[in-house]
Amino acid sequence: MPPSGAKTDGELPEAVMPTCEIREVLTGQKALVTGANSGIGKAVAVALGRAGADVVVNYNSRPEAAEEVVAEIERLGRRVFAHQADVSREDQVQAMFQRMFQEFGTIDILVNNAGLQKDAPFDQMTLADWQLVLNVNLTGQFLCAREAVREFKRRGVVKEVSCAAGKIVSMSSVHEVIPWAGHVNYAASKGGVMMMTKSISQEVAPYRIRVNSIAPGAIRTPINMAAWSTPEALQELYKLIPYRRIGEPDEIGRAAVWLASDDSDYVNGITLFVDGGMTLYPGFESGG
Ligand code: BGC
Repeated sequence: MPPSGAKTDGELPEAVMPTCEIREVLTGQKALVTGANSGIGKAVAVALGRAGADVVVNYNSRPEAAEEVVAEIERLGRRVFAHQADVSREDQVQAMFQRMFQEFGTIDILVNNAGLQKDAPFDQMTLADWQLVLNVNLTGQFLCAREAVREFKRRGVVKEVSCAAGKIVSMSSVHEVIPWAGHVNYAASKGGVMMMTKSISQEVAPYRIRVNSIAPGAIRTPINMAAWSTPEALQELYKLIPYRRIGEPDEIGRAAVWLASDDSDYVNGITLFVDGGMTLYPGFESGG
């Protein structure tokens, strides 16, 4: 007889969402969040604002969506502005950092979030699909991280602000380790984000710069709407998630606040999986 796995049929407890307040652990820190006009980036920008940071809301298209995020962060009493830039363009990234330095003086926290999917069966994937995803998801993170590290090194630690000279949070994905058929460009970009993050961290940790990633699983955002917008799709999705619920963008925001704060000061070069257990091989709940 094969060993029996844990039983998951019958009544399961209902999902209860976290509602506790985010503590103000980032008071006065200057943060830049890329791709902050929707989905995870928006939730991260608002969470950093709730934690006390002043925020630059980067976006590429849809300025009206960025302005809504600005209004939400303004209501929290923080300084905030939106800035349009394509993170895969060196000149635009450098202009964005220059404006941030003019308006806020410096940067303490970079959340490298901007990313996209351009899915196709592998033999139909065009070079343009490949390059777009790699340019935004990987090169974009490189360009922004490089500008941030230059400023962190120039300025050094200001101990009234933070124990570290600067913090970078890279938005990765469970697909930095889970292969993903039909999404080869995306999975390759996130595998790249993982090694880039760890390698930068190893190089700049002596300067008291912390670089870590978050690997979200299935989070309810526009990027994966097909996976959660019908009850049937959700049931299929739950087969991949031991915790049997979809994640909410605010849960990634809370993780980003922790990684950006001195609460995680001894954390360097990790990937924090926030995925309801998606990386626990749920196919092995029974059998194997
Ligand atoms: C992707 C989503 C997907 C999730 C889990 C994310 O990185 O962007 O589309 O639902 O991984 O597979």
